[in-house]
Amino acid sequence: MKAVFFDIKPFEKEYLEKHCDFELEKIFFPHSINSDTKLDEKTLGCEILSVFITSSLSKKVLEKFKNLKFIILRSVGFSHVDLSYAKEKNINVFNAPHYGDSSIAEYVFALLLNVSRKIITASDDIKNQTIDDNKYQGIELYNKTIGVIGTGAIGKNVIRIAKAFNMNVICFDKFKSEGYNYVSFDDLLKNSDIISINCPLNAETLHLLNENAFNKMKKGVIIINTARGEVIDTYCLYKALCEKIVSFAAMDVMECEDVLYENKENKIDINLIKEKCFKNHYVAYKLLNMKNVLITPHIAYNTKEAATNILKITVENLKSSIKFTSGAKNLILL
Ligand code: NAI
Repeated sequence: MKAVFFDIKPFEKEYLEKHCDFELEKIFFPHSINSDTKLDEKTLGCEILSVFITSSLSKKVLEKFKNLKFIILRSVGFSHVDLSYAKEKNINVFNAPHYGDSSIAEYVFALLLNVSRKIITASDDIKNQTIDDNKYQGIELYNKTIGVIGTGAIGKNVIRIAKAFNMNVICFDKFKSEGYNYVSFDDLLKNSDIISINCPLNAETLHLLNENAFNKMKKGVIIINTARGEVIDTYCLYKALCEKIVSFAAMDVMECEDVLYENKENKIDINLIKEKCFKNHYVAYKLLNMKNVLITPHIAYNTKEAATNILKITVENLKSSIKFTSGAKNLILL
């Protein structure tokens, strides 16, 4: 079998070369794949495609690979893959669950503590010699109510850490786990001082936080999003920040974030904007310049431990593809 890997960093190539102790032809590319990527015949003939979230496996991309049998995602999320096309063509899709549950949960608190204690503002001020003691008063997390949307692998770790801060935890999930304090979606919006989004992006969670939702929130709520940008309607968030319903938003993910990151000069460049992303990109540009918004470029997963786990799981998933059975671990049920 032949596997083609995109978004590969040198240490990942080294690891995969060393640990794939089974017969497999491997082709590595450091760049992502999307509909504009030029592909040669050898690459197009592969049976396995492996990508990170920076690639986009749309129908337009996938239909070029006539022999494709397996997609091996080096991520938990799979909103960058056209799963209905994969199903139609009997392409099996593996993801990499649990590779960084603690990494991402800890990052939720890295964002939250930065916001609650104004650490970045204070650090910037000391570097610029513009210290102003009136600016740094924060809030305690102790006894605050955190609403966790999505109590899966990451959400449960967010809850574990929140309890160590003595926070009151309320949760919302479509599927409930034993031992968690679930409330209705509206009650979570109404009662949370902080909302952490930890659900996947799907048809039901697309713009889950829309105008209606923001209008039900406690005034001054802090929003933390490490899941997917599209769970929030970015324009409505912008409005809620302007109206002071939301006091602060810290986000590791943004709607149409690939377009945002390509924009090196941090200004609107019409050539970089996909038609469907125009409004989001415009709003994101406004958000980037707001003092009560913190945006990071999708790095919550990025720890040494998580990177190694991703590679371990990828090797397992490659093995499972070669000796494929329908009940294979990490197979996304289409
Ligand atoms: P998971 O599958 O273990 O948990 C997701 C939870 O969301 C489940 O309990 C599920 O029932 C719930 N859910 C699904 N649909 C829902 C709905 N309509 N309403 C409410 N809850 C719903 O996934 P995990 O591992 O906890 O990851 C969550 C998300 O975090 C991923 O889908 C991914 O988008 C994001 N992520 C972000 C990373 C980053 O670096 N920023 C890295 C890894 C994941």
